[in-house]
Amino acid sequence: MSRLTPPRKSDLDPIEIASRDEITDLQTTRLKWSVSHAYENVELFRKRFDQAGVHPDDIKSLEDLAKLPFCNKQDLRDNYPFGMFAVPRSEVVRLHASSGTTGRATVVGYTKNDIDNWADLVARSIRASGGTRDHMVHVTYGYGLFTGGLGAHYGAERLGCTVVPMSGGQTERQVQIIQDFQPDIIMVTPSYMMALAEEFDRQGIDPRSSSLKAGIFGAEPWSEAMRDQIESRFDIDALDIYGLSEVMGPGVANECLETKDGLTLWEDHFYPEIIDPETGVVLPDGEQGELVFTSLTKEAFPVIRYRTGDLTRLLPGTARSMRRIEKITGRADDMLIIRGVNLFPNHVEDLVVATDGLTAHYLIEVTREGILDELTVKVERDPTKNTDESAAAYLQKRIKGVLGVSTKVVICEPGEIERSVGKAKRVIDHRKL
Ligand code: DLL
Repeated sequence: MSRLTPPRKSDLDPIEIASRDEITDLQTTRLKWSVSHAYENVELFRKRFDQAGVHPDDIKSLEDLAKLPFCNKQDLRDNYPFGMFAVPRSEVVRLHASSGTTGRATVVGYTKNDIDNWADLVARSIRASGGTRDHMVHVTYGYGLFTGGLGAHYGAERLGCTVVPMSGGQTERQVQIIQDFQPDIIMVTPSYMMALAEEFDRQGIDPRSSSLKAGIFGAEPWSEAMRDQIESRFDIDALDIYGLSEVMGPGVANECLETKDGLTLWEDHFYPEIIDPETGVVLPDGEQGELVFTSLTKEAFPVIRYRTGDLTRLLPGTARSMRRIEKITGRADDMLIIRGVNLFPNHVEDLVVATDGLTAHYLIEVTREGILDELTVKVERDPTKNTDESAAAYLQKRIKGVLGVSTKVVICEPGEIERSVGKAKRVIDHRKL
């Protein structure tokens, strides 16, 4: 099956390839507006800035941003549901909310202009992935309060694509619709894409024979090994899309097809910083830390120095003038500490998926026996191979060698590990239950 081609320069928004000076100028102008807008219309920001002794007039350059205090998810919870909105309710045309698995849900709102900008940025993301108005996009992100489905949908429509608003679930039907409608692009979580691969197999259809040419995957961390696996199972290009509801939804950053080297951040709408998660000190580009965003154009729900909890690095632009983020390692709160060793589920995934005879369906369980933490990796065997215990021994050795942690590896039967239709749950930490 043929692949998609990157967009021509003439098809890009001029700002995507503008000079760094032009980008900085635009960001500075927009930052001043956004900080004043937040200060004048959101009590939380006004109080916090006053406490810090900073007034919006003090923000004259991008560097001045560091004078302002951070905000975080707890602030959203404390102001549930609409306490951080900066416009009257009558200006809000859409609400989205997070599921709130830990604590209260968080709610975000959008004006008509916000929805317009969001659609533009998702359209830009799909275009960066090789999409054009000639393509059909199958959207498997969930529709509803989650930003994935509608975010992807409006963007694909904005680009002029034919959109299939499939949403998540109905796995058997997903495959049937893909076979019947022949979409070029799929937008789905990487974990659910692997469940779709399985369903293709179950129906006796080679996933490589499908019409799909590219997939735009996000909403959860996924490893490079997972990318290789998806690309070879489906014979497609697998691109990474990043975003979070508090900052907009999908389409804050997206990989470019020509380089596939991390995600270009749409810096004309979001100003990024990387901070040391412990001290809050701003780190230079290239250093790993927590990603912090300041929205530059958002009307209904501006965020100033919002701590995402996501860990990554800022890198210089390649395919575009805008900076990139490295693939997200995980969230600071997803990090497991096993007998003093720090470990991200993503790093385990890299090794699991690269082990011959094992699949990408895995679950990490952490228990405490007495005073010792025990890590167990449960992973399903590949039904097409003669997997035996040597695969478990091999994976165990790799995890010890690469990550420095002793684990138990349990090989499970195909289908034993629960499939998710959206974001996968990769870790059960019994120590916290
Ligand atoms: O997951 C928005 C989204 C939908 C992004 C569809 C991409 C595709 P939330 O539910 O608010 O929003 O979850 C946001 O998910 O802070 C990250 O921890 C994680 N996340 C999102 N995209 C990626 C990615 C949507 N590409 C949280 N890689 C974020 C790693 C991701 N983690």
